[in-house]
Order: sequence, then C-alpha cells, then structure tokens
Amino acid sequence: MHIPQLFVVILLTGLKRSEVVGDCSFNKSQSHCTCSLLDQENMGNLLQCFHAFVFELRGGNLEKYAGFASITVEQSVLNILQTLQVTKIVFGDLLVPEVLLAAVMKFIYYMRITELKFESCTFLGNASWFHMDRLILPVSSLRFHNVTSASLTDRDKDFAHLSGWLETLQNLTVTQSQVTYIPCSIGKVFRTLRYLDVSENHLQDQSMRPSFCQGAFPQLQVLKLHRNNLSSFHTMCEMLHQLEKLVHLDLSQNGLLAIPPSSCQWQPSLRILNLSTTGLDHITLPLPPNVEILDVSSNNLHALDLALPFLKKLHLSNNRLHAVPSAKNFPALEVLSLDGNLISRLPRDELQSLRHLQNLRAGQNLYNCSCLSASEIQALASTESLMPDWPQDYTCESPSHYQGTLVKNVPASVLQCNKAIVIIPVTVLFVLSCLAGIICFARRARPRPLLGAAKL
Ligand SMILES: *[C@@H]1O[C@H](CO)[C@@H](O)[C@H](O)[C@H]1NC(C)=O
Ligand SMILES: *[C@@H]1O[C@H](CO)[C@@H](O)[C@H](O)[C@H]1NC(C)=O
Ligand SMILES: *[C@@H]1O[C@H](CO)[C@@H](O)[C@H](O)[C@H]1NC(C)=O
Ligand SMILES: *[C@@H]1O[C@H](CO)[C@@H](O)[C@H](O)[C@H]1NC(C)=O
Ligand SMILES: *[C@@H]1O[C@H](CO)[C@@H](O)[C@H](O)[C@H]1NC(C)=O
Ligand SMILES: *[C@@H]1O[C@H](CO)[C@@H](O)[C@H](O)[C@H]1NC(C)=O
Ligand SMILES: *[C@@H]1O[C@H](CO)[C@@H](O)[C@H](O)[C@H]1NC(C)=O
Repeated sequence: MHIPQLFVVILLTGLKRSEVVGDCSFNKSQSHCTCSLLDQENMGNLLQCFHAFVFELRGGNLEKYAGFASITVEQSVLNILQTLQVTKIVFGDLLVPEVLLAAVMKFIYYMRITELKFESCTFLGNASWFHMDRLILPVSSLRFHNVTSASLTDRDKDFAHLSGWLETLQNLTVTQSQVTYIPCSIGKVFRTLRYLDVSENHLQDQSMRPSFCQGAFPQLQVLKLHRNNLSSFHTMCEMLHQLEKLVHLDLSQNGLLAIPPSSCQWQPSLRILNLSTTGLDHITLPLPPNVEILDVSSNNLHALDLALPFLKKLHLSNNRLHAVPSAKNFPALEVLSLDGNLISRLPRDELQSLRHLQNLRAGQNLYNCSCLSASEIQALASTESLMPDWPQDYTCESPSHYQGTLVKNVPASVLQCNKAIVIIPVTVLFVLSCLAGIICFARRARPRPLLGAAKL
C-alpha cells in the first residue's frame, strides 16, 4: 500500500484500500487537495496530494464505513501519519456517523492538523468518546458550518472525554447550525478559547444567558453573534459583562430596536463594536469608553451626538443623517463612512480639522450644489486619495438645474462663486480709477492755463 493512499485510508479511519473510492484534484499553488467520493474506483490521482497542506474530502455518505471505526491500526502506520505535513482538513457535504468521527479524531492526535472544518455535514447517531480521555489534539481551530446532529443535550458525559483537548482550543466557529444555547458547563471547558463565532443561529436573549455564566470563556477576545434573534442591547451588556478580555463584539443583524435605558457599563477592554443593521434609531446608551472601531451602518440614525475620544473608524453608511457629525467629538478619526445618507454639504474646515483622517466615504448623499457647497466638496476631494468613492458617487440633489449632475462637473471656480465679492472691488476700482483719472486730468489740466498763459 502506498503512503498517500494510506493517508486517505487513515483519514477514513482504517478503511482497506479497495474500499476507498474517489477522485482527487491538487491545486499546487494553494497546496490544497480536494477529493470527492464517487462510485468508481479511481484513486490513481491521489498520489499528487501527498504534499498537500490542506486536504478536503467532499460529497458522500460514510455510513457504510461505520464498521471500520473499530479497526485497530498498527504502530508503523501511526509513524507514517506523523510524517505527513497536512495542517488543515475540511469535510464537506458528507453524512458522517459519529462513531467514525470519533475514530478520525483519535488519528489526528498523531498528525499536525491545526484546523478542522466541517461544512454542510450531518452527523448520524452517537458515539462514546471515552478513548479520547485526556488526549490533547494539535487542533487549535475547530469550525462547523451548516451542520446538523442528534441533540447534544444530556451528552455532557460523552463530551467530558474531550475536555482535555477542548481546554486548549483557541478558535471555535459554529455557524448556521440552529444553535439555541451553549450550556454553562460547556462554556467553562473552553478555558483558553479566544475566538467564538456563533453567528446565524437561533440564540435569544434569555436562552443565551447560561452560555455566558460566571467562569465561561474566561479568555474570550472575539465574540461574533450576528444574525441571531437577540433583541436587547441592555441585556447583552449585562450578560457579556463578565468577559473581561473581550476586544471585539459583533451584534450586527439582530433586531435591537427596543432598547430600555441602560446604566450598564461596557468593559474597558472592548475596542471593536459592530451594531450594523440592528434597527437603531438613536444612540443614547453608554458605548464602550475605549472603542476604536464602531460600525452603526444600515440603521435609522438621524444624528450621532456622542464623544468617543479614541474612535479611529466610524461607519455611518446608510442611515438618515442630514449633517456630518461634529468633528470635535471624534478627534482621533482615521476612517469615516457617511455614504447613503441625506447629507447636503461637507463642511470642509470641520473635516480638515480631523488631522488623522485618511479615508472619507461620502457618496450617495443629497448634495446641495450651490456654488459654495460644490466648491467646498471639490476642494476636499482634491486632497490626495482621501475620498475613494470620488467622483462617481457624488451627485447633486439641488438646485434643480443641477439635479443628477456629478458634483465634480459643477462649475464652481472661486471667481464664479464669489461673483458678489468680485463685483464690489471691480466697481470700487473702476470708481477709484475714474476718480484718479479726474484727479490726474485735473492735475494735468491745471497747468494748461499756465502753459497757455506762457504761450500767450
Ligand atoms: C488554485 O487556487 C487558486 C485560488 O483559489 C485559483 O486562483 C487557481 O486557479 C487554482 N489553480 C488550479 C490549477 O486550480
Ligand atoms: C446545508 O447542508 C445541507 C446538508 O446537510 C445541504 O443540503 C444544504 O444545501 C446546505 N445549505 C447551504 C446553504 O449550504
Ligand atoms: C445513543 O444511541 C443509542 C441508539 O442509537 C441509544 O440507545 C442511546 O441511548 C444513545 N445514547 C445517548 C447518550 O444519547
Ligand atoms: C483564530 O481566528 C482568527 C480570526 O479568524 C485568526 O486570525 C487566527 O489565526 C486563528 N487562530 C488559530 C489558532 O487558528
Ligand atoms: C425570536 O424571538 C422571539 C421572542 O423573543 C420569538 O417569538 C421568535 O419566534 C423568535 N424567532 C426566531 C426566528 O427564532
Ligand atoms: C459589521 O457587520 C456587517 C454585517 O454583519 C459586516 O458587513 C461589516 O463588515 C461589519 N463591520 C466591521 C467593521 O467589521
Ligand atoms: C443650498 O445652499 C445655498 C447656499 O448655502 C442655500 O441658499 C440654499 O438654500 C441651499 N439649498 C437647499 C435645497 O438646501
């Protein structure tokens, strides 16, 4: 048996060569090998995958291999596993009996796999994980996307055998998998977890409470909860308050419309807060005092009246703002997005007072192209690479004869804008020059009689 074949054989938990069927393709530049399980026997092209760093197995039903989970593997085979350089395995579109999964995990102990990902998989039945006791796997990143399994309730004992490994896990993603809550006891197992993404599930305010009980996820830095069924900003603040190391919180795409007034203070560690698409129509709540990136885009905000001294990136796209928020409230701002609002002018002096501003996105607004406002925007846009969406997204709304015209094309030279100011000095000059002419004429005229007199 060839080593690469053995490799896949092992991945499929000790299947005999003749029973493994599939078709593989190897992407050299990505060092990525994808094998799909097919009905014909064709493992010839597997050889090319031997040097892959990423191995992907897609499409099929592994039920018929469930029996192989109990096969014992010789030490020599385990030695070979240790030489393989694959660091990531992806299982996609598969029906996987849990006993087979448990067996695969046992082999991963001998490999260098740091990332394990399951997408669109269905786990069948249940397995006892007792043989995993105290085994610490090299996998630090575990991802599930669109997976289904038998109910995990009352399986605490089975999964307790995995705690040796789960205690060392750093990244966990469980998305689009109909998760309704994470039991408190499980949250406490993840003692070193830094990154948790449970977006696009069925989490609700109350059902989620036990998930963040005292002592759960003590090292968590990133928490993504977008597109769940969360409704209260206040409850989130209270519930997540014990996560003392939290840096990045994503609550976007939840309906946080009804906010009771809150006195809950966010932890000072929080630097990135995403409240995009949450139905907010005003923000009166305490925001994290040290927040550096705030995304409140795609809401119904009419104004933003807050001072956030450390804020570097402020995303306000797609709201209902009529004016640019006051620059003095955000002295550290580097990135500002205001596109898709109802703003009619960009106050140049104010925006230029933001000394660190590098990126201003303000297209898709209702610009007033009266001479002065248009020239103000044009002057701002002349700042090197400040406005990446200039000029194509900047059109005039008023006055009516400029509606739909690009702001860039509005004639707004200083001379034209300042007609009133220009006319006055010209008139004065004219009058003065006339006066001067009269005086000169008078001066020149005066001696004439003298000359005339001389002639005379
Ligand atoms: C390898 O993957 C990259 C990125 O996904 C892709 O651009 C490239 O075309 C692939 N090469 C082959 C030979 O499939
Ligand atoms: C989710 O997984 C199921 C199989 O379990 C599959 O039929 C479906 O197409 C997947 N959905 C998405 C959006 O990938
Ligand atoms: C596992 O499944 C078997 C039958 O499939 C069932 O009898 C047993 O109660 C299940 N065990 C657990 C812990 O769910
Ligand atoms: C965890 O996820 C983050 C963000 O996706 C990534 O930057 C980091 O490298 C991951 N860590 C591990 C150990 O996989
Ligand atoms: C969201 O939560 C509310 C109660 O807070 C419930 O009535 C509703 O059915 C939930 N929606 C979904 C899609 O789970
Ligand atoms: C906030 O969330 C939205 C939608 O979930 C996403 O498109 C956006 O990139 C996020 N913003 C930041 C700053 O990460
Ligand atoms: C546009 O700006 C000019 C000059 O500042 C002002 O007189 C005019 O009322 C504004 N028009 C609209 C529609 O706001």
